[in-house]
Amino acid sequence: MRFLTTLTATVLILVSVVGCDGVDDPRHLGGTGVAVPGLPSTPPMGWNSWNSFGCGINESMIRAQADALVSSGMAAAGYRYVVVDDCWYTPARDSNGRLQADPTRFPSGMAALGAYLHSRGLLFGIYAGASDRTCAQLAGTYPGTTGSAGHETTDAQTFASWGVDYLKYDWCSTSGDQQESRFTAMRDALRATGRSIVYSINANSGRGTVLPGARDDWGSVATMSRITNDISATWTSGQGADGYQGVYDIVRAAAPMTQRAGPGRFIDPDMLEIGVGGALTAAQQRSHLALWAMMAAPLIAGNDLTTMDSTTRQVLTNPGVIAIDQDPLVSAASRSSTDPDIWTRKLADGGQAIAVVNPTTATRTAPVDLGALGLRDATVTDVWTGRMVTVTDGRVDTDIAAGDTLLLRTR
Ligand code: GLA
Repeated sequence: MRFLTTLTATVLILVSVVGCDGVDDPRHLGGTGVAVPGLPSTPPMGWNSWNSFGCGINESMIRAQADALVSSGMAAAGYRYVVVDDCWYTPARDSNGRLQADPTRFPSGMAALGAYLHSRGLLFGIYAGASDRTCAQLAGTYPGTTGSAGHETTDAQTFASWGVDYLKYDWCSTSGDQQESRFTAMRDALRATGRSIVYSINANSGRGTVLPGARDDWGSVATMSRITNDISATWTSGQGADGYQGVYDIVRAAAPMTQRAGPGRFIDPDMLEIGVGGALTAAQQRSHLALWAMMAAPLIAGNDLTTMDSTTRQVLTNPGVIAIDQDPLVSAASRSSTDPDIWTRKLADGGQAIAVVNPTTATRTAPVDLGALGLRDATVTDVWTGRMVTVTDGRVDTDIAAGDTLLLRTR
């Protein structure tokens, strides 16, 4: 008993010294440099089937989403990857050990889908599992064990032959022993195809509360790496790190990790829930996009584009917010040490973007004090409205509605 007490005390001291999640002192995995060469240095933008459709996907609805991506103006705003998430494949590989599309739901095959997307000026994304199964297979909602572990070279070649431009690669196992080697093996297999394929990984599914995607910096293993468990269309979910995460839960979790982002390497706070329904207010949906843009995060819409209303479209395509996300300096925001609701990001034009989030359910009343940022008397742009705003003696005379984010740009 005494031994256990001493042991517990020692463990507690060690945990408090090194931090139990390693976030403040992450291991840098995968060497140096960008994971996959030849890609743009700014965050990928696109659409993914999972948040709105789960396993209920087929080729005609993916084509319809692609058509809506173009007709809505989303593609012109920068959203070009169309990512087919989990459940597109048959439960078993073919006789050559290759993954194959479900013949009922994707009768034309994945190469044809890729060709269609390319013909529309879009890019083709696909999902696979990094362990022995995909997440739907781990969850028991889809049959089979078609994970790519041990098949990395074959699968990378298959994807490249189908014209895939983006691989979402998900660790779906309760065991984490081989994560680093498996994720690196697929990175190397993608590199070996010679095709520039965005490599998007999630190390967290099924891994409990100490999340590998948060603990380690995977910036040289993958183009983008998930930092939390799955997002849900809520502001705060009330669940632990092993459960669904609300938008603001993810923002809080991301705060110590944003400086991992840089040209060609992005932290991934997960896909957008804007226009997905659920419990997010219009103001919270604006904050969702603004804060993802401040983090230089990939913007992967998750809503049904064929039924998108104009409010959702206007939020998702706001040119000022997207310009911050896509700023060529790729310097992600950090949170102010004096006011945790204020985030600042350096921009390529020498100016900065400032986000002031009001995470509460009450109006944050004027003034907003920006004095600590060195702004005394200035005229800045309100990015959402495009209007000029005056900063007087370090203060902006504006209220911020519950859940909303004031987004400013100094030049
Ligand atoms: C995991 C991922 C999700 C989605 C599902 C598919 O939960 O985090 O984004 O891809 O798997 O099963």
